[in-house]
Amino acid sequence: MKLLVTGAHGLLGRSLLEPDFDAEMIGCGRGETPVGKGAYHPVELTDPRAVLALLEKVRPDWVIHTAALTDVDRCESDRPLALQINLDIVRHLASACRQLNLGLVQLSTDYVFDGHNGPYSEQDPTNPLSYYGAIKLQSEGVVLQEGLKGLVLRTLWLYGYLPETRRNLVTWPLEALARGDQLKMVDDQWGNPTHVHDLAQVLVELCRRQVQGLFHLGGATYLTRYQLTQELARFFGLNPGLVHPISTADAAQKAPRPLRSGLRTQALESLLDHTPLSLSQGLERLAGQENFRRDFPNFF
Ligand SMILES: NC(=O)c1ccc[n+]([C@@H]2O[C@H](COP(=O)([O-])OP(=O)(O)OC[C@H]3O[C@@H](n4cnc5c(N)ncnc54)[C@H](OP(=O)(O)O)[C@@H]3O)[C@@H](O)[C@H]2O)c1
Repeated sequence: MKLLVTGAHGLLGRSLLEPDFDAEMIGCGRGETPVGKGAYHPVELTDPRAVLALLEKVRPDWVIHTAALTDVDRCESDRPLALQINLDIVRHLASACRQLNLGLVQLSTDYVFDGHNGPYSEQDPTNPLSYYGAIKLQSEGVVLQEGLKGLVLRTLWLYGYLPETRRNLVTWPLEALARGDQLKMVDDQWGNPTHVHDLAQVLVELCRRQVQGLFHLGGATYLTRYQLTQELARFFGLNPGLVHPISTADAAQKAPRPLRSGLRTQALESLLDHTPLSLSQGLERLAGQENFRRDFPNFF
């Protein structure tokens, strides 16, 4: 099986390209620097001709599209950019995949829900509060249209340690707590943090099984951002007293957030016979990573 991963330099992109999967993994991204052991292609995904040319050349079984503008507040303030990156590129990929009869996996988000009564299943009605959520919802429709071998995987709160990626909801609080910083974390946004390597493994398996349609994947622990950061502090022997609860209203984030959010994963669990990792299992995995132990020696 040959898989082409967009967003090669991102958190999920690297999690797909750096480990050894039983598949030919090919990366593409904006930068020139290759990622992983397989082939790598620099590409401008906003150019539909470049997208078609790349797909014609590589001819993967599936494209796993992880590239996105993931800064939710930036999407709110720069809507044209959000539209271009989070929707137009998906349209280009969908059109090329349909033409060449390739599968397309789109990553989506729990932000398609309003957060009034999560955690949500695939059957629950959507009602995005933010522009990021609204555009991601539209992108789902593009991938699930007839005539395209499409899979949409909604996920949330990705964490893991990949040295050259941006900080995530586990690594930045860890660094801050290790410095002794006081942290204010929202205690009214609920979700289930997802270990990014677990997600990568599930994506490869779904492609192998040629699964199409809409599925949710989130971790097995449901909690608030404040509780998550406290758990993190306790797990790594740092001071949980440095973490202080605030409300989303006090956080004054530009884009509105779903509060009682989260994703139910039963459909995928029974399909794959796979239980997502709990937070403590995910942190155990993280702590067992050689590069994490090297870069955070004070925790061990
Ligand atoms: N992170 C989460 O908690 C979360 C939650 C729900 C859903 N998701 C979805 O999961 C997917 C993967 O997320 P992630 O956390 O791995 O994202 P990420 O770490 O922010 O990586 C996104 C990648 O997209 C690339 N990118 C951005 N604009 C691009 C453009 N115009 N052309 C080509 N590449 C571009 C970036 O390239 P550069 O490296 O060059 O900047 C980056 O490598 C996304 O679809 C995201 O919306 C993520």
